[in-house]
Amino acid sequence: MKKITIAIDGFSSTGKSTVAKQIANHLGYVYVDSGAMYRAVTYYAMQQGFIDVNHFDIEGLVANLKTIDIRFKFNNKFGFAEVYLNDMNIENDIRTLEVSSFVSKVAEISEVRQKLVEQQKQLGKDGGVVMDGRDIGTVVFTDAELKLFMTASAETRAERRYSELIERGDAVTYEAVLKNVQERDYIDSHRKDSPLTKAKDAIQIDNSNMTLQEQFDKILELVNVTL
Ligand code: C5P
Repeated sequence: MKKITIAIDGFSSTGKSTVAKQIANHLGYVYVDSGAMYRAVTYYAMQQGFIDVNHFDIEGLVANLKTIDIRFKFNNKFGFAEVYLNDMNIENDIRTLEVSSFVSKVAEISEVRQKLVEQQKQLGKDGGVVMDGRDIGTVVFTDAELKLFMTASAETRAERRYSELIERGDAVTYEAVLKNVQERDYIDSHRKDSPLTKAKDAIQIDNSNMTLQEQFDKILELVNVTL
């Protein structure tokens, strides 16, 4: 059967990655979490002291981009690929609210985007890929056979993210998570390079009132029509 490319874009915490993983597993496709790549660069920038609450050395980070090696390795136990930075598993380290608070600033840098978009294109060059992010349908895979644009209210998204962080044992408040979601929405959709926007040929899905199962069924139906 023909293998297509599925591009899923949308605002923060719309549940893109959950459904993208489910669809990829169901179809036997590769799932790529492009947000994890921006988070990996951000984590690197924090570790190297290029970014903290008081300063952001963009030039320093850009000058060191070549030394950043990001890879995905499939974890059989969890059934999805985890992200590695220079051979170190950083899957858990990149999901903190601290990384979330800096990532949109890092994702505004064109040199960072160039590097990651090139790698994302390589990862999807043979098709059979589900990739989620902010610019997958508009920049990375403009020819994707199926493009989805996920939305949900900021409050619904913040509640979901808050529950995830609490479950991990992170000490966060709902208000701080909501603020972060709103800030990222703003920066992601107003930046100069590849702002978050719905591709003209993307199908919009508002999942505020959908269960995971309903969302999965709806997307699978769209996949079947496309195949
Ligand atoms: O998807 P996730 O919320 O993990 O993405 C983290 C951040 O990475 C986003 O808020 C956005 O700033 C950036 N991003 C991006 N382009 C992508 C994926 C993520 O700019 N394709």
